[in-house]
Amino acid sequence: MKSGLAGRLAQLGRAVEGRLPQLVPPAAERPESVHRAMLYALTSPGKRLRPILTLVVAELFGQTSPVVLDLACAVEMVHASSLVLDDLPCMDDASLRRGRATTHREFGEDVALLASFGLLNRAFALVAACGQRLQLRRYGTEDMVHHLAAAIGSGGLIGGQALDLESRPEDLDLERLEYIHSHKTGALFLAAGELGAMAADARRRNLEMISRYAKNLGLAFQISDDLLDVLATSEETGKDSHQDDDKVTFVKLLGVEGAQHLAEELLAFAVESLEPLGRKAEPLRQLALFVGQRGH
Ligand code: IPE
Ligand code: IPE
Ligand code: MG
Ligand code: MG
Ligand code: MG
Repeated sequence: MKSGLAGRLAQLGRAVEGRLPQLVPPAAERPESVHRAMLYALTSPGKRLRPILTLVVAELFGQTSPVVLDLACAVEMVHASSLVLDDLPCMDDASLRRGRATTHREFGEDVALLASFGLLNRAFALVAACGQRLQLRRYGTEDMVHHLAAAIGSGGLIGGQALDLESRPEDLDLERLEYIHSHKTGALFLAAGELGAMAADARRRNLEMISRYAKNLGLAFQISDDLLDVLATSEETGKDSHQDDDKVTFVKLLGVEGAQHLAEELLAFAVESLEPLGRKAEPLRQLALFVGQRGH
């Protein structure tokens, strides 16, 4: 990667990394293989963008409770769980993730699948506990659980992954691509932002503002990921490159420059929606800037 996260964002990422291993069962506890694989998939060096988004949004609306860190970690668990599935031989068949062997290459497909479901279950248990501990006025635990479930269900991430796998380059069209990207990746960004706003008991209109921002950020992020698949080396991304040769991507539809331009436009929309928040929204602008720099 060509640029790192600056200042406060990097600090939040480190807080997440410190907390993650404390929130899953120890590797020495039975079933050891699954617990080791959960820890491996979760604590390998990722960018932690989604939990950072949750934390920044909560902080923006005045919520500084340490409970939000656990909520943010739950979002990262969902993400890690989705990566384990995404890499399986029946899906993208990837060998490298975050600069290491993919979870199924390290532990076998059986253990990797169980670890993925283990992480997902742990995430929901955590969200439920966080909702209870926060005791909010506007949102209940059920709202948080519902938002996360909707984001990753067949109407969200799973839907996007399904079409991503089914589609062939000859199926390339803007509407289908938009569906794939906004579901497989945008939906979890959306939930990450919304959970942060909910954790801060934000007003509905603020929640909607964050939703608009996070949706566009997520879509731009997946475009930048597709750009890196063709522009960056495997050493730079920590993943196999040219994974998308048989996939439908914005790079194929619009070319490198067209995809870069679209990502910039989406990020401009994202930042525009933050206008009413004034300077308070600076960390979210920084996050958008970071995503923008990735695809170049
Ligand atoms: C990878 O996400 C999967 C996509 C949605 C493109 P990230 O690029 O955020 O992965 P990590 O967490 O930093 O490894
Ligand atoms: C993955 O998209 C999206 C999810 C994991 C839900 P990609 O397949 O493009 O992600 P990478 O490139 O393997 O990280
Ligand atoms: Mg994939
Ligand atoms: Mg993949
Ligand atoms: Mg990719």
